[in-house]
Amino acid sequence: MSTAATAGGPDSHAIAIAAERRWAWVVIAIMALLVVMMIFTGLHWSAMPPSRVETVDVKTLHLKGEFVESNLGTSVGPDGKVTVRLIAQQYSFQPQCIVVPAGVPVTFRGTSTDTIHGFVVGTTNANTMLIPAFVSTFTTTFPKAGEQLMPCHEYCGTGHEAMWARVQVLPAAEFMAKAKPGERLSCVPR
Ligand code: CUA
Repeated sequence: MSTAATAGGPDSHAIAIAAERRWAWVVIAIMALLVVMMIFTGLHWSAMPPSRVETVDVKTLHLKGEFVESNLGTSVGPDGKVTVRLIAQQYSFQPQCIVVPAGVPVTFRGTSTDTIHGFVVGTTNANTMLIPAFVSTFTTTFPKAGEQLMPCHEYCGTGHEAMWARVQVLPAAEFMAKAKPGERLSCVPR
């Protein structure tokens, strides 16, 4: 009877070492991949910042400029561009209910009046932070009509978990029929 193949024999020891070495190489490869990803994304994003920095004066936000109450909500520009303007404050969004068309690019522009807030729209990729004195902006397209919840996702104080808005995605034709030039749309009941 050979002892080479029994447990703990010289063969199984060699196999264990080979397996160990294989694992070491796999781990080294994963670490090397992560380092390459870090270097690539670092260089890529410093060459192409995600958005330009736009600032806004928190003290006069409610009084003049883009984020006065009458300018909040969804507007359709003369070129057909859809823009949603909103502000976040402890503990609500304004407007509380946002209307957007489906299948059309929508640009969000938002800021905060007090502390850092943020939002994500349902299961879509619409997701941003809202930071006092800065304008957050991104453009997204909602593929299908329906209602989505829009919770605040940055801890902003004791009322954080109660801070959310709704987003109504309407079929594009229905939305355009409601939109009037110069008006700001929202689905807040009046
Ligand atoms: Cu606003 Cu959390």
